[in-house]
Amino acid sequence: MSTPASTPNTERVEPPGVAARARGLTKAYGSGETAVIALDAVDVDIARQRFTAVMGPSGSGKSTLMHTLAGLDSVSAGQVWLGETEITGLKERELTQLRRDRVGFMFQSFNLIPTLDARENITLPMDIAGRRPDAEWLEHVIDTLGLRDRLRHRPAQLSGGQQQRVACARALASRPELIFADEPTGNLDSRAGLEVLGFLREAVDSLGQTVVMVTHDPGAAAHSDLVLFLADGRIVDEMPRPTAEAVLERMKRFDVLHGVASDAPDDPSPQD
Ligand SMILES: Nc1ncnc2c1ncn2[C@@H]1O[C@H](COP(=O)(O)OP(=O)(O)O)[C@@H](O)[C@H]1O
Ligand SMILES: [Mg+2]
Repeated sequence: MSTPASTPNTERVEPPGVAARARGLTKAYGSGETAVIALDAVDVDIARQRFTAVMGPSGSGKSTLMHTLAGLDSVSAGQVWLGETEITGLKERELTQLRRDRVGFMFQSFNLIPTLDARENITLPMDIAGRRPDAEWLEHVIDTLGLRDRLRHRPAQLSGGQQQRVACARALASRPELIFADEPTGNLDSRAGLEVLGFLREAVDSLGQTVVMVTHDPGAAAHSDLVLFLADGRIVDEMPRPTAEAVLERMKRFDVLHGVASDAPDDPSPQD
């Protein structure tokens, strides 16, 4: 039997490649005068087995980017691939199956079912898909997230941190290649948030998974390998090996641009 936790994936021979990719990804909401361009011809490669953070001002398109990359939302123009499979143009049934097989989600609101206990919530997506969880993997996830003694509790009987850990376990239960997390620590106290970040980090380093996480917290972003910065529906900058301090400095420049737009002449403005 394999022991997932003890098989670090650091000695792979093949280049890790790309877990998700978009070209010319455009998403508009509404039409005519009231149309909102949430994503404006975004090109992005999400590296496999890496932890990518997505940051940017509120309304810059972070959630829309996650949802369209994950095939949860349609695109207005452009192409999206999950692995080698182009998902733009897939039929709904094929897309649903691909998502179930490859993708896990964590949202800021935990989206737990109140009438189900923690274990039932964790396995729900697999139950719906008619798939049996890998028992060993599932137990490992439960233990790593410290949920062993909470499995029979319903969401209302759990703290916010515990609920988010259940949502985290649910995202990981099917052992997806790719995990999308939209502000997963947004509702957590700092200790619970650190636990979740540590687990996402371990999912990448020890388990070879790929994580894409939206956050507004520079400290959370510092757990990632690469930060993508969005503004007005475009990727305007990226920062490898981020530190909280460097991310904070970069975020301040958004504030400057938004507050006094004409007063930032020396901003490199990396966007085309
Ligand atoms: N369902 C929707 N209908 C209309 N506009 C939307 C919808 N979802 C998002 N938007 C708009 O698209 C833009 C990007 O939103 P979003 O991706 O949620 O940004 P972020 O996650 O960075 O805060 C915003 O202007 C937002 O108001
Ligand atoms: Mg959002």
